Amino acid sequence: MVKHLLEVTGVDLFYGDAQAVWDVSFHVDGEMIVALVGANGAGKSTLLHGISGIIRPKKGDILFSGISLINMKPEEVVTLGVSHVPEGRRLFSRLTVLENLELGAFPPRTRPFLKESLDRAFSLFPALKKRIHQTAGSLSGGEQQMLAIARAIMARPTLLMLDEPSLGLAPVMVKLMFEIIQALNREGVTILLVEQNVHQTLEIADHVYVLRTGRMELSGGGKDLLRNPDFQQAYLGMRG
Ligand SMILES: Nc1ncnc2c1ncn2[C@@H]1O[C@H](COP(=O)(O)OP(=O)(O)OP(=O)(O)O)[C@@H](O)[C@H]1O
Ligand SMILES: [Mg+2]
Repeated sequence: MVKHLLEVTGVDLFYGDAQAVWDVSFHVDGEMIVALVGANGAGKSTLLHGISGIIRPKKGDILFSGISLINMKPEEVVTLGVSHVPEGRRLFSRLTVLENLELGAFPPRTRPFLKESLDRAFSLFPALKKRIHQTAGSLSGGEQQMLAIARAIMARPTLLMLDEPSLGLAPVMVKLMFEIIQALNREGVTILLVEQNVHQTLEIADHVYVLRTGRMELSGGGKDLLRNPDFQQAYLGMRG
């Protein structure tokens, strides 16, 4: 029986000879919002790269719906239902909004739903609809971040991994971004969220894992960690 939607067990990840993640285990259950937090360089993005097939773990296993991802190519992982919006968005800046979205719907199982997926993307991100024939490169930073997420959901993921979606956005856009993440989750999309905006992340996350220098340090419910004095002192800049 499959215990968790995503189950990461004892994973070591390297860049060449340099180890970035040591023996990390965690899991994500279906329809949850789970967050990964930690200081710069803690290994958060590296872990998402490991799950999405960009880096292959030297040790450990990563199961999605009971299927091991560790020998899969990134596009096979997307096809299986795991989409990753990396830091820095990686859009096709000279293609239009529509072309970027259409490229997101590359897994064959999503093709019959192309029209429905576009409608869904534009209902979640009405600002993009107005810019449908503009190039991605001409959008504002916030709009580009929305396009990156909209493109990822065109692949109709079960699990959506977001790497710092609020980075560099104006406060009003940050608020909107967190609302959109919650709206996607209410539609049934499971979210694995990496964020530096720790306070707002803990408010919306069902469960939070804290990484420190490549190792799992602690975990708990979002609201429980907000009240945890050790966590407050280390990550929220408060005195306990
Ligand atoms: N392409 C790379 N080549 C070599 N080392 C890397 C590379 N990317 C990251 N690292 C190293 O791996 C470690 C983990 O980095 P990672 O980017 O996963 O951290 P992070 O938690 O996402 O940090 P940030 O909050 O700054 O995004 C760091 O020591 C970093 O210097
Ligand atoms: Mg990172």
